[in-house]
Amino acid sequence: MSEPFYPPNTPAWQTLKALSEQAPSVQTAMNDTEWQRKAHLQLNELTLNVSHHRMSIDIFEGLLALLNASPFATLRAGLFSGGAINLTEGRAVGHTRIRTPDFIRADPTLKAIREFTQAVHSGALKSATDRPFKHIVNIGIGGSDLGPKMVCQALDHPDTSQLTCHFVANVDGAEINTVLRRCDPETTLIVIASKTFTTQETLMNARTARAWLQASLPDSPKRAQHLVALTTAAAKAVDFGVAPNQIFAFDEDIGGRYSLWSSIGLTIALQSGFETFEALLLGGHAMDQHFSNAPLPQNLPVMLALMSVWYGNFLGAQSQAVIPYCERLSLFPSFLQQLDMESLGKSTTREGRSTDYQTGLITWGQTGTNGQHAFFQLLHQGTHLVPLDFIGFGEDSLSSEPAHRALRLNLAAQVTALAQGQPGADSHRDYAGSKPSSVIMLDALTPFNLGMLIALYEHKVFTCSAIWNINAFDQWGVELGKALANAFDRGDLEQPPVTQALLDQVRLTQTEQDP
Ligand code: F6P
Repeated sequence: MSEPFYPPNTPAWQTLKALSEQAPSVQTAMNDTEWQRKAHLQLNELTLNVSHHRMSIDIFEGLLALLNASPFATLRAGLFSGGAINLTEGRAVGHTRIRTPDFIRADPTLKAIREFTQAVHSGALKSATDRPFKHIVNIGIGGSDLGPKMVCQALDHPDTSQLTCHFVANVDGAEINTVLRRCDPETTLIVIASKTFTTQETLMNARTARAWLQASLPDSPKRAQHLVALTTAAAKAVDFGVAPNQIFAFDEDIGGRYSLWSSIGLTIALQSGFETFEALLLGGHAMDQHFSNAPLPQNLPVMLALMSVWYGNFLGAQSQAVIPYCERLSLFPSFLQQLDMESLGKSTTREGRSTDYQTGLITWGQTGTNGQHAFFQLLHQGTHLVPLDFIGFGEDSLSSEPAHRALRLNLAAQVTALAQGQPGADSHRDYAGSKPSSVIMLDALTPFNLGMLIALYEHKVFTCSAIWNINAFDQWGVELGKALANAFDRGDLEQPPVTQALLDQVRLTQTEQDP
């Protein structure tokens, strides 16, 4: 039986390590015609430009060799065939399955989502006081919040938005109290989004919202029309008081951070219409087909993943930033934080061996041009190597020509300044340059293009997990915190003195102090 894949033990890893000793600057790579021929990829209206990187053909081929030595091909086949590639939970991974045209056509839950959305929009389904629904309060956290919230913000458009969406995630009661104060209970739909229907924050907020409805609406069976649940745990939702016909289920093999394509996306359809949600799904599917079939050197998710591996494992980068030059994508970095860091923040291989190599990078970001006035100083003249992904759009019908041109020229100026640098009059004004970045451009921010963009990053994360030989689809690291919070909640507060002092400090206890 062959040894399990361990990246540092491969010839490719040793080759890359040697190449990293004399890694070319970005400026050198920009004049490397052989590498530049590989640096522009495209799928439909999405282009990826990786010409501003510390790359060469030898490095690129070394990274491809590392990928080919990894279990990538087998795992990718398993992703699309329904294989149980989520090893530690013994599950398949279903987010690509639920965005195929066949699935979209045939799935009964999607049909129910379409019908429910149309009933709410047409007024066929009204509130307990026979008024049309105007507001949605989506109560969920993590993947039950970040994905739908990011998509709703990105696709909020005067031509398609029909309801006002509010998102509540934190157990901090000020958040839900503020949102509910802004809503009229008679026209508000409460959407409880929770895969497990056990998440402490979501249940606390759901109870607050339920009490708000009960206090404000007549006690009639029609009050149940204000409560919807999106979950794999339908029985728990019924116990909570959600009417069975207002529960939209989805399968266990849909991971939380991969769930916006499932029933968790109901709020997207309610805000922007089912057609918008369907176009998003089809955009994701288009990227799936590309990822599955494109030769690796021309494979967009693969190219992004190889960049993260090169900088993270061979050039010492600890973090990577995503800078969308589009204010409607201001939540995209937060969405990517969960997608990337909850998938790749692992230090045990698929076979259970500790990794003595770096895996997931710290992912962060903010929109441009705002970031230029916040942290770009560090990126230009700081001591950290931070590979960047710039995201831009060729046109924006919600902007104006002068403003959108200014946005695009700032994007180009930053990529150029970071890459080329410029000698300064003195060392304080010197720009070393050679700061790497990828540029992703889409013709416009449409549902289809957003679907492609999200799936691009999902498959980038997947590819990194294969190279690092880790499971991208579990998240055991979030359980201990939840268990301790529940123990503290139960009053199980027997802790060592230092922790006891912490509990005193956060006012959970008042320990008698020794005189
Ligand atoms: O952060 C841990 C986590 O389990 C995420 O993976 C998930 O998206 C989130 O909590 C919410 O879980 P649920 O949708 O079950 O409420």
